[in-house]
Amino acid sequence: MSQLYNKIIELRQQINRHNYNYYVLDNPTVDDQTFDFLLKELEALEEEYKKENPNFDKEFFSLSPTQRVGGEVSKNFTQVEHSFPMLSLANTYSIEEIKDFVKRAEDSLSLKDALQWVCELKYDGVAVSLNYVNGKLQRALTRGDGIRGDDITKNIKTINSIPLELIGEDYPEEFEIRGEVIFPLKEFEKFNNQRIIDEQEPLANPRNAASGSIKLLDSRETAKRHLECFLYFLLLKEDNTNDKINEEILSLTHYQRLQRAKQWGFNIPKFMAICNSIEEITEFINYWDKERFNLDFNIDGIVIKLNDTKLWNVLGATNKTPRWATAYKFKAQREETKLISVEYQVGRTGIVTPVANFEPISLGGTIVKRASLHNEEFIQKLSLAYNDYIYIEKGGEIIPKVVGINFDKREKREGEIEYIKYIKNCPICNTPLIKEESEAGYYCPNYNHCPSQILGRMQHFVSKKAMNIAFLGEERLKYLLDNNLISNFYDIYDLKKEELIGLTSLDEDKKSVIQKKGAENIIEAILLSKDVPFERVLFALGIRYVGEVLAKKIAKTYKSIDNIIGAKKEDLLQIDEVGERIAQSIVSYFSNEENISLINELKKRGLNFEIKETFLSNKLLGKSFVVSGTFETFSRDSIKKAIEDNQGRVLSGISSKLNYLLAGEKMGEEKRKKAEKLNIPIISEKDFIEMLNN
Ligand code: IVH
Repeated sequence: MSQLYNKIIELRQQINRHNYNYYVLDNPTVDDQTFDFLLKELEALEEEYKKENPNFDKEFFSLSPTQRVGGEVSKNFTQVEHSFPMLSLANTYSIEEIKDFVKRAEDSLSLKDALQWVCELKYDGVAVSLNYVNGKLQRALTRGDGIRGDDITKNIKTINSIPLELIGEDYPEEFEIRGEVIFPLKEFEKFNNQRIIDEQEPLANPRNAASGSIKLLDSRETAKRHLECFLYFLLLKEDNTNDKINEEILSLTHYQRLQRAKQWGFNIPKFMAICNSIEEITEFINYWDKERFNLDFNIDGIVIKLNDTKLWNVLGATNKTPRWATAYKFKAQREETKLISVEYQVGRTGIVTPVANFEPISLGGTIVKRASLHNEEFIQKLSLAYNDYIYIEKGGEIIPKVVGINFDKREKREGEIEYIKYIKNCPICNTPLIKEESEAGYYCPNYNHCPSQILGRMQHFVSKKAMNIAFLGEERLKYLLDNNLISNFYDIYDLKKEELIGLTSLDEDKKSVIQKKGAENIIEAILLSKDVPFERVLFALGIRYVGEVLAKKIAKTYKSIDNIIGAKKEDLLQIDEVGERIAQSIVSYFSNEENISLINELKKRGLNFEIKETFLSNKLLGKSFVVSGTFETFSRDSIKKAIEDNQGRVLSGISSKLNYLLAGEKMGEEKRKKAEKLNIPIISEKDFIEMLNN
């Protein structure tokens, strides 16, 4: 093998080892920067190797840590039969039933000594089954119906804590290992915050989010979510007598098997215990019932498994669940409290959200005093009334929920029951609210003058991912609004240092005066914000449904605000992510005269309203392309970038106006037929490279 190849193997092992130290042993031996550096180096060496050896071993490279960022987009998932059916567990909320379960097992085995049980956390995620052949990850399946699951290998490879290749050599030739993919709470919160910024509905809980994430068609998206996986169940072929290691592992207990799996590189449950009695099991359960709130992931119970694997077959299984393992489920945390008031918040787009304020309670380790009531229907379904005693629950969801009313206490109350009536007018500007049919919500239509919406939009405009004007927090923006120093985005750019110094709020008792230094900081941040690129200016405008990601896409497609203003709804619909609702929102934003004059005023003050691009050449100027299939030297994104860098345009659909269909391997048949019918030249990757080199 060449020196380059050996270097690649060596670096790859080094990276895998760092990964193992970090995820499995919780003991990182390098900092993030060094790790990223090694990964970049490996990437460069691999590129070099692939160029020099066009017939490189694709499978070998597909297991490289450089592949964890995800790859091409798939159309759907293939269904594959499980080597062993994927059973579930019986579960109960009662310790008594756990006692019965243990007793049943002991009685039916009629052994002299008490049995040993392994207690593990019951991860609240999605089950996966991984297949390894000769130490390499071969395939990953979802549970599916227990008999057949979806092949999600590409997505699973993006999870850093799952080894692509195993450490050492003493693993069976072929085996299966099962576990749970989870969305760590910190990552889930980040992910949902981003969705809120992008005006997408946040996902209800980390389990649903994990489940959605491993079923995404674009594995690069899965990679961005930083999922993790705990592996808790090793399955071996029992008739594979040729494989000595397999034989040996078969003779081990469940606990020992997992310890071995850990040595091969698997992230096994971090907290587990061998329990010799029901008392010890109960202790483990009670400990984690309280302690679970200090974990960085959700668990919904404890799994109890018989340690002696030889007895598994003796006990057997019912048609869905084994008799050697069971699950105890934690009760959701629920508290009763008194409703104090219902308050209505008006967001920057005018949407009204009712919120319940109640007497503070402690739930899952935190103090809670408010919870969303979502919309009018939710309040009606609860039949919520003033002075009610309500139940608040915190389950897998991080956000507490109002789940019901204590009607007994209501009956004992004197006087008339007064139900919560949804407001008819905006609580801030008194404008009559309008009900939006599609979204079961009310909104305040006073878009340009409702103080709450103006403040919300101002906050959005100055926020980090938009114009990034630091030092202008909510308080200060309020001052500026209260003092009539700003009423529109462009007023921010006319602020003078002298106006800011000594400014006080009208409704507070003259505190928080802005000092000289503070005023200077604000003015400087405002000036700097004029350099913010167009895509972020577009996001800052706060057009409904146009989040950060979409703003970037639209900016890249249209290049300037004038092009967007001129775009018709049909044109906008050509962008993949834009549907009817978004296109309508964009068109109506730009057909509003006040918005156009706002943009003109911002232009006068020097904000970027077009993409300042530096092109590599103008070789593709005036030429449009549709890209389909997969390519050898380019990824899908990089071929699109190459087109744009040379001033070509990338379109998503084939029409008679298209100049070229750039066809890769496995391109869609439909597209080919359509292009042929319209006589559009179909070119290959090679033709394309020639075009650029000419
Ligand atoms: S063992 C045949 N161990 O909970 C036994 N399952 O409600 C296989 N789960 O299907 C499962 N944590 O998806 C096992 N430590 C753990 C688990 C666990 C979570 C999931 C798993 C299972 C479901 C049963």
